[in-house]
Amino acid sequence: MRMIVQRDYDQMSLWAGRYVARSIYMAEPKQNSPFVLGLPTGSTPLGMYRVLIDLCRKGTISFQNVITFNMDEYVGLPIDHPESYRRFMEDHFFNHIDIPKENINFLDGNAGDLKEECMRYEEAIGSFEGIDLFVGGIGNDGHIAFNEPGSSLSSRTRIKTLAEETRAANSRFFGEEISQVPTYALTVGVGTVMDAREVLILASGLNKARALKHVVEEGINHMWTVSAMQLHSRATILCDEDATDELKVGTVKYFKQMEQRNLDPDSLLPPEARS
Ligand code: PGA
Repeated sequence: MRMIVQRDYDQMSLWAGRYVARSIYMAEPKQNSPFVLGLPTGSTPLGMYRVLIDLCRKGTISFQNVITFNMDEYVGLPIDHPESYRRFMEDHFFNHIDIPKENINFLDGNAGDLKEECMRYEEAIGSFEGIDLFVGGIGNDGHIAFNEPGSSLSSRTRIKTLAEETRAANSRFFGEEISQVPTYALTVGVGTVMDAREVLILASGLNKARALKHVVEEGINHMWTVSAMQLHSRATILCDEDATDELKVGTVKYFKQMEQRNLDPDSLLPPEARS
């Protein structure tokens, strides 16, 4: 597993956006061989989405031949609720890029049969021969997507009960009212993420420091489900300095030294788009 440390949230977002853009244009996607991108919601990826929107407006990148799969969705929130993940993605990303609507995939948290809906999602991912790049966040409790502590590390898309810590963290989007945060969500499994050809995990801020310590310096453990990415052949943790606060100085130094040639976000742009 790689770890790329950037000085702050803005630099991390710039690196993330440009890395995703580069992955897409290097793949030279076509209509019959699209690039398949897994995407997260949450506060952390907002900066990355802004960078991608900007690159799309400038013509550096196009999403015409990109298929997206979002990681998770609350159960029971109306589709147009401002905090539904579909609405979040439309407001912050999809409405601002050139992606065809039919290329966008979500779990339906209002489906009549939620089990069947989860199976449909796995099949839909399979119909595109899997995900090329899965971008994810990390919960304060070390979750990836909504795979809360104790989730099976080989889990597939399913319904999950949200941890109290996650509902408390997300209550900031629901007027600080934890009772308004849904109790259940549909989420891709850890196994679903592991099947992606590449995984990029974003972590920003001091409140992610404890999780990062467990995920980077300790063993694979179902109590910190992102730690499963240690077994992935192409996984990268991209974080800011604050998120490394509980790592050993030596660990941070090691990864910075290993990645010194890859830290500059400018190196991720095609030559003609560099400033
Ligand atoms: P956040 O959420 O980006 O809002 O911190 C991350 C997550 O819970 O996966």
